[in-house]
Amino acid sequence: MKKITIAIDGHSSCGKSTMAKDLAREIGYIYIDSGAMYRCCTLFALDEGLIAADGTIDTTTLERRMPEIHVSFRLNAETGRPDTYLNGECVEQRIRTMEVSSHVSPIAALPFVRAAMTAQQQAMGREGGIVMDGRDIGTAVFPDAELKVFVTASDEIRAQRRYDELRAKGQPADFDEVLNNLRERDRIDSTRAVAPLRQADDAIVLDNSHLTIEQQKQWLLERYAERAL
Ligand code: DC
Repeated sequence: MKKITIAIDGHSSCGKSTMAKDLAREIGYIYIDSGAMYRCCTLFALDEGLIAADGTIDTTTLERRMPEIHVSFRLNAETGRPDTYLNGECVEQRIRTMEVSSHVSPIAALPFVRAAMTAQQQAMGREGGIVMDGRDIGTAVFPDAELKVFVTASDEIRAQRRYDELRAKGQPADFDEVLNNLRERDRIDSTRAVAPLRQADDAIVLDNSHLTIEQQKQWLLERYAERAL
């Protein structure tokens, strides 16, 4: 079977990464969570005091300091899944907090942030054999990907999943806050000028509102088998 490129895009918290990780593990491909890379840029900006209390971003300093941001992924032997590292530090937990979630979309809308992350993502996928999830993977990062999937689910179902995930990790969460946050992120992600969230013309749409994780996995494996012949 040839090594193909698989792009999985879609709305916030629709279970893209679960599907993508499971598929990559099953077929022995590299998995890259591109959202984690934008979350790392956001964490860096927060830690360095580049986001004011009112949300204003010091874009001049952030742009100058972009070369200091190095994101990598290492397999966690315990979970069998990759953890995200920012400049050598494991930030897998810190990038998933509500604080990062509420600032990430404006950071991801900055053209110089997108240019830097897109270049890194394309370098990671040069050899094929990769599953990458995000918002613009099938449209901007890998427009020639052999398999493109666009995942969605209703707002309430997505918010419930995200809320359950935060609670399971012991992080404080309020359902309405989670729902508003994901709607706001979808709005900013879909309306930004550079590489907005949209379905690629040749993507297959999957509404997983009423599918189990196992059903999604099977569906995706079938699509992969059709393309990787
Ligand atoms: O998938 P996620 O929720 O972890 O993504 C975090 C944010 O990063 C999301 O609000 C949009 C942005 N993002 C993006 O703009 N492009 C991508 N390829 C992936 C994520």
